[in-house]
Amino acid sequence: MKTIGILTSGGDAPGMNAAVRSVVRSAESMGITVKGVLRGYNGLIENNITDLDIRSVSDIIHRGGTALFTARCPKFKTEEGIQEAVKNCRDNGIEGLVVIGGDGSFRGARELSLRGIPCIGIPATIDNDISSTEYTIGFDTAMNTVVEMVDKLRDTACSHDRCSVVEVMGHGAGDLALQCGLAVGATSIVIPEKGYNPEEIIEKIRSTHKRGRNHFIIIVSEDLCDVRQLAKEIENATGIESRATIIGHVQRGGNPSLRDRVVASKMGYAAVQLLNDGIGNRIVALKDNKIVNYDIIESLDMEKTFDAETYMLADIISI
Ligand code: ADP
Ligand code: F6P
Repeated sequence: MKTIGILTSGGDAPGMNAAVRSVVRSAESMGITVKGVLRGYNGLIENNITDLDIRSVSDIIHRGGTALFTARCPKFKTEEGIQEAVKNCRDNGIEGLVVIGGDGSFRGARELSLRGIPCIGIPATIDNDISSTEYTIGFDTAMNTVVEMVDKLRDTACSHDRCSVVEVMGHGAGDLALQCGLAVGATSIVIPEKGYNPEEIIEKIRSTHKRGRNHFIIIVSEDLCDVRQLAKEIENATGIESRATIIGHVQRGGNPSLRDRVVASKMGYAAVQLLNDGIGNRIVALKDNKIVNYDIIESLDMEKTFDAETYMLADIISI
């Protein structure tokens, strides 16, 4: 393979740049030229493609966001859009493509692979919601951002004897809420895997209040409830002053953590190695902390496992 393309797609995640840098420089070491496709699949459809070399990816390993820009591209879900993308790949001499994104982006990669453009997916999303991998690039940075924000909220909750109800992102997966909930000492962690039960949350607050606790943190994964409403319910039921905070898109930004830079660099290298070996239609993943790869179609069908032990532990020690 002489020329490959690379794009970032879906929600940005800290560490995407480290992956791009690794792909470009790993390719160079194997004698492969890299073309950067801008703004996700939009760039493939609109032929917005630029040459990358080892210096174009200088000074980005430590930056959040993505230097290739990202987007959601509804047209790529149509046959017409996919065909335009295939044509532009061929016209630009792109023989293989590295797609950095979440499972939506991998569905797009699967479509290209099925039409003769071998693709390798690199998992990058703050949600850690991709079933085939233990870890997605960006998750560690986002967790640390949440912990930093909630530690600040705790100062206020503690000073005022309040309850702080905090919504974090997750896109249907409770990983971010669960890990962060444990790390910030949340009284309750509300995640899609366990469902939303306001009575249970209020009961936990009451029981820990009786045992001498005067301030409370409740971590809620997005889309499960209206956190302002929940804060009101808690205040009405317990008499404890409550406030709601939605952390929002700050979770997506910031300089990538060490872990995200290292995993991104390793995954980038593994992706290029596969293409160089003539292998496409794979997702690079982390299993038992080692880099592995799976068939895209099989990986999209895998079921995500729930970390019940961490959930139980967080509940046991939040008294
Ligand atoms: P993520 O990759 O973070 O999960 P999305 O689900 O928003 O993000 O998907 C990103 C993009 O991937 C979509 O805007 C679309 O261009 C492409 N995509 C998603 N699903 C499909 C699909 N079934 N077929 C083709 N392309 C898809
Ligand atoms: O997938 C990353 C993510 O930040 C999710 O946690 C969240 O549900 C979604 O993207 C928000 O998307 P948008 O950028 O469209 O607001």
